[in-house]
Amino acid sequence: MILVTGASGKVGSEAVRLLGAQHQSTRALVRDASRAPRADVEIVTGDFDRPDTLDAAMRGIETVILVSPAVPAQEIAVIAGAVRQGVQHIVKITSKASADSPVERRRGQARIEAYLLTAGLSYTLLRANAYMQNLLTLAPMIKQSGGFLMSAGDGQVGMVDARDVAATAVKVAASPGTHAGRTYWLTGPDLITYNDVAKELSEALGHTVDYRRTTPAEHRVAMVQAGVPETVATSNAQAFGLVAEGDAAWLSDEVASVTGAAPRPLRTFIADHIAAFT
Ligand SMILES: NC(=O)c1ccc[n+]([C@@H]2O[C@H](COP(=O)([O-])OP(=O)(O)OC[C@H]3O[C@@H](n4cnc5c(N)ncnc54)[C@H](OP(=O)(O)O)[C@@H]3O)[C@@H](O)[C@H]2O)c1
Repeated sequence: MILVTGASGKVGSEAVRLLGAQHQSTRALVRDASRAPRADVEIVTGDFDRPDTLDAAMRGIETVILVSPAVPAQEIAVIAGAVRQGVQHIVKITSKASADSPVERRRGQARIEAYLLTAGLSYTLLRANAYMQNLLTLAPMIKQSGGFLMSAGDGQVGMVDARDVAATAVKVAASPGTHAGRTYWLTGPDLITYNDVAKELSEALGHTVDYRRTTPAEHRVAMVQAGVPETVATSNAQAFGLVAEGDAAWLSDEVASVTGAAPRPLRTFIADHIAAFT
């Protein structure tokens, strides 16, 4: 049986939907049952901060698709619970982790990965570039003002649709032995700038969408004013500053090599989510 954590989130909900459609024996962990994805799977409630609920969720599980906000103490608790419950394989969704990154959440991911690598079970790391779904956070500003604020300059991003990350996770979870010990770098098909995003949105919406450039420091303040928690705004602003310097300008063909299907381009993502922007 496969457990998907973070099953109400971007990758988790799609992984659960795919597993349900494939009639794979699946349990979906959510902290709020009302946010559970609609799929033909078992739903369990649990909290990363309550190890007893994690142990209960992992009973009888062979493989975990591990999605969480990547707070080290929380993910380490999930991995420790998995070891206790005899889970054999963890498919960890991660990012460009690095122990000496200026971005705190990347240092956190590096700590989690280091723990996972020595935990004694087999694992696969899915190291994804930025999700296209993050663009949905720009939708309210676009609807209100016809443009969006961003501090990524002309930096290119190998943006990937979270649905393709989910499809890759599901494929790995279906035959973990084939993928044990592997790290896959997941991207979409194209390097995209926020100028490209504005252009694609303008075409799809039939009116001009402005890319309003700002600095990471100003962007951080704007995000906090818009209600983003301060630590998240700080990490986001640092990450956008790095994007401007070329940090996310990487592509790979590993979605296609694992799933057998080409990853979705930005145009498809926008067409599928056009209602959110109108
Ligand atoms: N976003 C990106 O561009 C991106 C790119 C590469 C890698 N990643 C990685 O993907 C992972 C997830 O990020 P995401 O952006 O995909 O997040 P997300 O869609 O918000 O998913 C996070 C999930 O964790 C759940 N959760 C949060 N706190 C919890 C708790 N205490 N107990 C149980 N469940 C809890 C959330 O549930 P609720 O719905 O109840 O909040 C949600 O289902 C991270 O490791 C991140 O580094 C993200």
